[in-house]
Amino acid sequence: MMTASAPETVDLGRDLLGLRGMDQQTLRALLSGTARMLAHASFPARPLDLLAGRSVATVFLEHSTRTRGSFALAAQRLGAVVVDFSNANSTAKGETLVDTVRTVAAMGIDAIVLRSSRSGASVCAADAVGIPMINAGDGRHEHPTQGLLDAYTLCEALGRVQPWDLSGVRVAIVGDVAHSRVARSSTAAFTALGGRVCFAGPEQFVPESLTALGGTIERDLDAALSNADAVMMLRVQQERGAVIGPGYRQRYGLTVERAARLRPGAVVMHPGPMNPGVEIDSGVADGTALVEGRRSLVLRQVRVGVAVRMAVLAWCLGVLDHGEQA
Ligand code: CP
Repeated sequence: MMTASAPETVDLGRDLLGLRGMDQQTLRALLSGTARMLAHASFPARPLDLLAGRSVATVFLEHSTRTRGSFALAAQRLGAVVVDFSNANSTAKGETLVDTVRTVAAMGIDAIVLRSSRSGASVCAADAVGIPMINAGDGRHEHPTQGLLDAYTLCEALGRVQPWDLSGVRVAIVGDVAHSRVARSSTAAFTALGGRVCFAGPEQFVPESLTALGGTIERDLDAALSNADAVMMLRVQQERGAVIGPGYRQRYGLTVERAARLRPGAVVMHPGPMNPGVEIDSGVADGTALVEGRRSLVLRQVRVGVAVRMAVLAWCLGVLDHGEQA
């Protein structure tokens, strides 16, 4: 039941709810914005004041390390105040998501970063308020900032920046694709830039219907990896009911032995959180077991995530192009 009244404000910026359907110009503008923000996102940080006097709310109704922390850092490095509503907020008392975001917006917050376990929650929340809504992951629907950071990191690793172009690049996305919002957003970004995506996994994690996302399907992981320039491993999402069957690691894990058969120069990605010894071996994830130019990009993905979220916050609040100082 709704109790808080609708805001009287007009739209004050842009939402970022997903990457599917995003136009090429916007996608590339966000990647170029990320490139400009990187110097300000890394240590030692050189903070900007693009969002001085503004406030950003983080509302995480599901656990997060990377996304929540990097949005907070991103907002701070742009000069904004961050107010975190993630822990012990009133949804635990039965308050609806719509009432929560309207309440947060009524405090004079300039943008809301929302994570929810419900697919489509960010769309409902965006409809309820007149300030920018940024989807930080909703159910299995989308995780747009993860898709952007994956696209940026891959372009950077393969020397495909400015222009952002993944033409001819083959990416294998392996594991529990069915439950993965990351797979949906990253596939949208990779294919928009010209990349080709192959989903690999058993039927319950990679149903035939996933071809609608724009990728092909391969049940044999070694076949999928034989010509891949990049492999993105996904965690099995047991919290959403997925079950790790017997022999899963042998059939679908990126073990040290299997990684040694990747193409020389191939890169390994994982959005995290990882379950080492299940979908990926530790020595592959941290790169210590990789040879012949094969690299793990896992921590680079995390680092780029701060810059992506700076660019997204600036874009949503209409100041990304004010970044001459960036
Ligand atoms: N990749 C990702 O969304 O990680 P967190 O759940 O830690 O934010």
